[in-house]
Amino acid sequence: MKMIIVALFLCLSAGVMAEDPYHFFEWNVSYGTIAPLGVPQQGILINGQFPGPIINCTSNNNIVVNVFNNLDEPLLLTWAGVQHRKNSWQDGTLGTTCPIPAGTNFTYRFQVKDQIGTYFYFPTTALHRASGGIGMLKIHSRELIPVPFDNPADEYPVLLGDWYNKGHKALRAILDSGRSVGRPDGIQINGKSGKVGDKNAQPLFTMEPGKTYRYRVCNVGLKTSVNFRFQGHTMKLVELEGSHTVQNVYDSLDLHVGQCLSVLVTADKTPKDYYLVATSRFTKQALSSVAVIRYANGNGSPATPELPPPPPENSIGIAWSVNQFRSFRWNLTASAARPNPQGSYHYGKINITRTIKIANSRAMVNGKLRFGINGVSHVDKETPLKLAEYFGVPEKVFTYDLVKDEPPQGNNMVVAPSVLNATFRNFVEIIFENREKTIQTYHLDGYSFFAVAIEPGMWTPEKRKNYNLLDAVSRHTIHVYPNSWAAIMTTLDNAGMWNLRSDMLERSYLGQQLYFSVLSPARSLRDEYNILDTQPLCGIVKSMPKPTPYAGA
Ligand SMILES: *[C@@H]1O[C@H](CO)[C@@H](O)[C@H](O)[C@H]1NC(C)=O
Ligand SMILES: *[C@@H]1O[C@H](CO)[C@@H](O)[C@H](O)[C@H]1NC(C)=O
Ligand SMILES: *[C@@H]1O[C@H](CO)[C@@H](O)[C@H](O)[C@H]1NC(C)=O
Ligand SMILES: *[C@@H]1O[C@H](CO)[C@@H](O)[C@H](O)[C@H]1NC(C)=O
Ligand SMILES: *[C@@H]1O[C@H](CO)[C@@H](O)[C@H](O)[C@H]1NC(C)=O
Ligand SMILES: *[C@@H]1O[C@H](CO)[C@@H](O)[C@H](O)[C@H]1NC(C)=O
Repeated sequence: MKMIIVALFLCLSAGVMAEDPYHFFEWNVSYGTIAPLGVPQQGILINGQFPGPIINCTSNNNIVVNVFNNLDEPLLLTWAGVQHRKNSWQDGTLGTTCPIPAGTNFTYRFQVKDQIGTYFYFPTTALHRASGGIGMLKIHSRELIPVPFDNPADEYPVLLGDWYNKGHKALRAILDSGRSVGRPDGIQINGKSGKVGDKNAQPLFTMEPGKTYRYRVCNVGLKTSVNFRFQGHTMKLVELEGSHTVQNVYDSLDLHVGQCLSVLVTADKTPKDYYLVATSRFTKQALSSVAVIRYANGNGSPATPELPPPPPENSIGIAWSVNQFRSFRWNLTASAARPNPQGSYHYGKINITRTIKIANSRAMVNGKLRFGINGVSHVDKETPLKLAEYFGVPEKVFTYDLVKDEPPQGNNMVVAPSVLNATFRNFVEIIFENREKTIQTYHLDGYSFFAVAIEPGMWTPEKRKNYNLLDAVSRHTIHVYPNSWAAIMTTLDNAGMWNLRSDMLERSYLGQQLYFSVLSPARSLRDEYNILDTQPLCGIVKSMPKPTPYAGA
């Protein structure tokens, strides 16, 4: 397969105006055979690769990705965790933009403004993520901005997670027929699955003795939390979803679906092979996979078969995991791009202007499985919500605020587009209540938020006394343990239409998501960009005259 990665580095400077550097990519998204668990199946490749190419850039860089959709279905890619300030047009969700028709191309253009860290991109359309189209996006600190650890010898990307051998079309048929996709078939690590004792296993990465490496790890699975660990080595956590953390040392780390982090690992043990181990968490049947990490001077001497044990399961395991979550702290003295510039460091001193309590639920509607938030199960319409708003015809596509700020009584489920009207620049508290028996993870587009608490039981206003109002990590994904709650805080200072979704693909596909409509009353370029002329139009806005563009600065 022909690979066409064009990664140009252009620094445009025109007189006194210096523009931030650009990175250009040209991506061919196509089907191809992959076998993450050893079983060949149709996968989604980018330039022939699975996982796809890495986007490697620096804070404030401009990213231009020309995506050629060579699948047989419409496609959108999202860059989860990239805030797209003023620019939900580039967010790649079905609520903001029309998908790229099969056989055509569309160019994403966005800036990674004031962000650092580890992220991944993936398709948001038609369960495509179950077949691939996934890759890492790394944002480095700008030169001269000190990073709170020594430059590692190298950086190693690890995309791991649960995997189904069926592929997205078969899985989608199951969901469309009203059933769950059930349990995954295994765990993949960078597109492969390894077994202990496999003499033919190729090393995933090789480390020079005495050197320290940065492993950037994301859980790109569909529903399963994963614990990962290195045989014989500890990990120093340095970054979590775009925040430099207090640098604690861990034997193993829980990583929930949609989450990314960076750890430092030093090659200071007996030179030989070691296993990187990934095990499923909180599932009935444990799934696991290993990958070989080689010492350059170890002569390929095989790893010992004894694997470091996983953390406990059941309620003890949840308590273990909650404790680990509480140990994640933001390093307040590390200088870096602040993930939420307007949100300020002193988030604990800002008065909450709105509390939104969100409860997930599952129900059968007309004999078919649906998931929802506060009794509303979201469905995408042919006309994206944002476009309906921009063209001034929202009422033709959706009703604002069907979903309320409080979970309803009972288990009624309404199936409709779910949009919450939010006030620009409000400081909101969102409480996630999980009354189900399975763990949840949620991702909010367009923002990072302070993850101030996770506790078992039900939330009450008194629980605010237990919030971490000092050094909670600013991040974009939060997990909620069974029969527990989690609380986050953020300033809604980024105008646009932003998706809050379950990161568990079957749940978001069957309705466990909503959109925040954050409109700036000024309707000015100061607060929000205009739609690009190149954006495909669809649904009822296709034949409508373009509205007057936002002006001003
Ligand atoms: C994209 O990939 C497909 C499948 O490998 C190939 O047939 C096609 O020629 C590629 N297109 C371009 C523009 O390279
Ligand atoms: C990634 O980007 C950083 C910062 O621009 C640069 O130092 C590094 O060499 C790049 N790595 C690769 C593999 O291109
Ligand atoms: C499609 O690709 C062509 C060739 O690279 C490019 O000139 C054009 O701008 C792209 N179209 C869109 C809508 O991005
Ligand atoms: C936080 O960052 C500072 C500044 O880079 C660094 O010196 C310090 O060791 C870090 N603190 C912790 C606890 O990791
Ligand atoms: C926050 O609320 C308190 C109590 O209502 C009020 O006294 C205080 O002035 C408010 N602070 C800000 C910054 O608005
Ligand atoms: C959304 O909320 C704002 C502020 O409360 C209000 O002015 C506006 O009318 C609301 N819009 C809709 C469509 O409900």
